[in-house]
Amino acid sequence: MASSQPIIIYFIGCNFFLLLACATSCYTSIFGFGDSLTDTGNLVHFYPNGNKPHMYFPPYGETYFHHPTGRCSDGRLLIDLIAQHYGLPLPPPSLDRRNAQNGTNFAVVGSRVMDAQFYEKMGIYDIVTNVSMWDQLNWFKQMLPHLCHNSSGCKEFLESSLFLLGEFGGNDYTHALLSHKTLNDILPIIPLVAQSIASGAHELVELGARTIIVPSVLPLGCSSSYLTNFESLNEEDYDELGCLIWPNELASYHNELLQKELHRLRELHPHVNIIYADYYNASMKIYRAPRKYGFLKSVLVACCGGGGPYNFNVSAQCGTSQATSCEDPKQYVNWDGYHFSEAAYKWITKSLLEGLFSYPPMKNLCLFDVVEAQVSQI
Ligand SMILES: *[C@@H]1O[C@H](CO)[C@@H](O)[C@H](O)[C@H]1NC(C)=O
Ligand SMILES: *[C@@H]1O[C@H](CO)[C@@H](O)[C@H](O)[C@H]1NC(C)=O
Ligand SMILES: *[C@@H]1O[C@H](CO)[C@@H](O)[C@H](O)[C@H]1NC(C)=O
Ligand SMILES: *[C@@H]1O[C@H](CO)[C@@H](O)[C@H](O)[C@H]1NC(C)=O
Ligand SMILES: *[C@@H]1O[C@H](CO)[C@@H](O)[C@H](O)[C@H]1NC(C)=O
Repeated sequence: MASSQPIIIYFIGCNFFLLLACATSCYTSIFGFGDSLTDTGNLVHFYPNGNKPHMYFPPYGETYFHHPTGRCSDGRLLIDLIAQHYGLPLPPPSLDRRNAQNGTNFAVVGSRVMDAQFYEKMGIYDIVTNVSMWDQLNWFKQMLPHLCHNSSGCKEFLESSLFLLGEFGGNDYTHALLSHKTLNDILPIIPLVAQSIASGAHELVELGARTIIVPSVLPLGCSSSYLTNFESLNEEDYDELGCLIWPNELASYHNELLQKELHRLRELHPHVNIIYADYYNASMKIYRAPRKYGFLKSVLVACCGGGGPYNFNVSAQCGTSQATSCEDPKQYVNWDGYHFSEAAYKWITKSLLEGLFSYPPMKNLCLFDVVEAQVSQI
């Protein structure tokens, strides 16, 4: 009986006293895939002749880095905050080709799940990037032989790596809408997109990944860009918070299907942690009670933008000379019309790590590792 004592002590210690120290031992690397919610500086590599997209100009990065880094926020993104929680360095953009031993980030602004050919057949074009989730997964596969060198080495390496597969899906729908597709045109592709994300996760499992976080799509109808681009004169199109209902329903439909797909994947691979990260509800919690989290300014208006009721103008985006920025980004949920402020990302990360909006709860991740290690010593 006495030998079970250390387990309990460790359990309590992890939870309440040693969260950081305990978490540090969990993962030795983090790999990111996704779009502008996750890109830490890849997009510029697709711009010729030293041209830079607008998120490479101030005030992007002002809060944490004090200079633009290519992140679409005033500071750190969810992947950065998750990495730091586990004691890992901020994951560098993969196209910078820096040392990837503790992880790297393949995400590119504007990425979609499905490839450009799929959409071009439907008359949907993308002016930002043609990079798909499958491209990013291929980049990872090409890099893997440089990260580990034999089957036992790779097994160990991948088992102690954390994978963030997403967010993906938002751009699949947003770019279709901006190519003048209707909701009815888009509905049939939602199941394909959700299935494809799960196939991507499956591919990581086959390669040896043991912990994969798959995020939901955000409540698109609450973003300043949707509220501006799809403004309606019909009051009934808005919910009690002032968000557009139909884009939120579109996002919810995607999220429901994604959860079903992930459930099936867990049944196929019971020994893999496949975690649904509910960005949607974690951010709705903030939209519903912004003052509670220190967001004192109108929650649907962007901090940085080109004016208008939501401070968003696609012809005068944040980072260009026509845009202006707020005094204190901490008081804003929305940073630039599409993306959150670092302050909002911090609250969302907290929710995910505490397990409120992650399923199965992320707070149990490292705990299980530690308890298992203790048990196997007995
Ligand atoms: C970074 O990776 C190396 C090699 O796998 C590992 O020894 C080290 O502990 C990792 N650093 C952190 C902070 O996990
Ligand atoms: C995407 O691919 C199409 C052809 O498939 C090309 O015409 C277009 O310029 C590409 N866009 C970008 C941003 O690379
Ligand atoms: C496999 O690679 C690891 C380092 O990644 C090394 O420590 C180990 O000795 C190698 N095993 C074999 C059988 O070559
Ligand atoms: C999350 O949001 C969806 C709508 O997208 C809703 O159906 C679901 O009940 C919510 N779940 C939680 C745990 O709040
Ligand atoms: C958006 O910005 C452009 C460029 O500065 C400007 O010409 C246009 O009037 C703005 N639109 C609105 C609705 O403010």
